[in-house]
Amino acid sequence: MIKLQLSGVSKSYGGLEVLSPTDMEVKEGEFVTLLGPSGSGKTTLLKMIAGITDVTQGRILIGGSDVTHVPARHRDLAMVFQNYALVGHMSVFENVAFPLKVRRLPSAEIRRKVTAALATVRLEQFAGRKPAELSGGQQQRVAIARALVYDPSLVLMDEPLGALDKRLRDQLQEEISQLHRKLGITVVYVTHDQQEAMSLSDRIVLMNHGRIEQVAAPEELYRRPDTEFAAEFLGDSNFLSGKAAGTGQSQSICLSSGEDVRAPQECVLSSGAAVKVMVRPEKIVLRPLGTCASEDLNIVPATVVERVFLGGMTRLILELADGTPVRAVSSDDMTVAEIASGTRINMGWHPKDAIIFKSAS
Ligand SMILES: Nc1ncnc2c1ncn2[C@@H]1O[C@H](COP(=O)(O)OP(=O)(O)OP(=O)(O)O)[C@@H](O)[C@H]1O
Ligand SMILES: [Mg+2]
Repeated sequence: MIKLQLSGVSKSYGGLEVLSPTDMEVKEGEFVTLLGPSGSGKTTLLKMIAGITDVTQGRILIGGSDVTHVPARHRDLAMVFQNYALVGHMSVFENVAFPLKVRRLPSAEIRRKVTAALATVRLEQFAGRKPAELSGGQQQRVAIARALVYDPSLVLMDEPLGALDKRLRDQLQEEISQLHRKLGITVVYVTHDQQEAMSLSDRIVLMNHGRIEQVAAPEELYRRPDTEFAAEFLGDSNFLSGKAAGTGQSQSICLSSGEDVRAPQECVLSSGAAVKVMVRPEKIVLRPLGTCASEDLNIVPATVVERVFLGGMTRLILELADGTPVRAVSSDDMTVAEIASGTRINMGWHPKDAIIFKSAS
């Protein structure tokens, strides 16, 4: 069942469009993340779903009802912000109870629900404290409890972990993930942190310059980015420039560094077209000099320019004949001497592991 549906939703400020007409669907119980660089329109989109900001055009449906012009407090949703937005002079209990008091619930029910919500975020023993007497992570857990306490059918979170340090962020990510699974709530989450988006989401809505670049499950987005932006924003990527050559079944690409390499099988390119070959660092294989290319392995000579030992793996920066840098991760079967800085080496990849983008230039 579709929980949230946006049709042609756009936003302009003073005639300047900051969000292009956007279509989006979120299924009941789904965890969807709006991911994108600063200024890409994530908060704008979330605030329109919340009803805090008016839409310029388009329609928003929640649970099948058109809420485009319904005020925020009647949309049956909760929002969690980056800065917690707790009321300083109220205790933790009173903060969490607030949305229930506004809804005029009987006090016994308020007590029961607040206690349960605080238990969910493991803060029962802090009920009497003021927000200022809590750590950042604890304050954000109070804000999450306050959002969940009235069983909203949709929870919106805008960078809820943005103000926390790395360790706390990891811990709360895990808690949010567990809460989502346990309560079966529908979540629309905003972050510019790709790792956070990948670990939490059922699907990621990748945004760029006020429009949706791609919508996909994290793995799909990583493995099959539609655009150079998507490939670059999510994970590490190498881009090798070249020109398409050959036709039909035997598509090949002549790299700017001089070598001919095979294109992936399904790739159809017009001969002479400028392209970029994208290969993830972990898909780069290293071979001793003298290794020949084969049907399923492209080989390009390179020089090791930097080598960083990281314990479980060694990260390498290689350079091709035309100076193109290539990031790689060492394979276990190469000895330290074979990958020392300054060493000439063969690097390569399986044609199926590359993605070809037509470049503008
Ligand atoms: N009230 C406003 N008036 C005019 N322009 C605005 C207003 N609010 C946002 N914008 C513009 O809309 C664009 C998108 O802003 P938005 O806050 O949605 O970005 P974001 O993706 O959430 O970025 P961040 O990661 O920095 O939070 C930006 O260019 C911003 O300057
Ligand atoms: Mg924002």
